[in-house]
Amino acid sequence: MAELEARCFPHDGWSAQTFWAELAQRPRRSYWVAVDGTAGEEELAGYAGLDVAGDLADVMTVAVDPGRRGTGLGARLLETLHARAVDAGAVAVLLEVRADNEPARALYSTRGYRVVRTRRGYYRSAGAASPVDALVMRKELVGP
Ligand SMILES: CC(C)(COP(=O)(O)OP(=O)(O)OC[C@H]1O[C@@H](n2cnc3c(N)ncnc32)[C@H](O)[C@@H]1OP(=O)(O)O)[C@@H](O)C(=O)NCCC(=O)NCCS
Repeated sequence: MAELEARCFPHDGWSAQTFWAELAQRPRRSYWVAVDGTAGEEELAGYAGLDVAGDLADVMTVAVDPGRRGTGLGARLLETLHARAVDAGAVAVLLEVRADNEPARALYSTRGYRVVRTRRGYYRSAGAASPVDALVMRKELVGP
């Protein structure tokens, strides 16, 4: 996961140590992987992580191998997180996304997420021309 992470988030990816710290928080956290290939020759195609605390869930991460994007894996991983959140008793799920991450924003908005807050200039990476806003998005998991 850390190797794929470095390719998906070249500037601010999580380290292997961060993934171990995430996995140590199971069952509150849960991580799901998409695997491609046949038995014995599987490759990691993507992964996604969820936190559930009380009736609210948070998407910790979603990432798909650059060579396998646009084939529905990101949506399937996200739907897996939603199912897990519902099972765990959550009524809504939140996430944070960079305002300039168009594929991810499109994924979330077409799957029922709406922007509920903007954190101005939240992402500041070394060498970047200017800070980038973070959008907090929320999806209701149960109807009124
Ligand atoms: C965001 C990401 C997970 C999407 O994964 P994916 O497997 O390519 O997504 P899918 O093929 O399942 O597409 C699902 C939806 O995403 C949107 N989408 C995907 N790629 C897109 C693109 N290049 N441009 C615009 N919208 C896009 C579409 O709305 C699509 O829905 P549709 O197929 O019903 O039209 C992937 O681009 C990725 O790993 N990006 C780098 C990591 C990242 O930014 N993660 C999110 C952090 S908040």
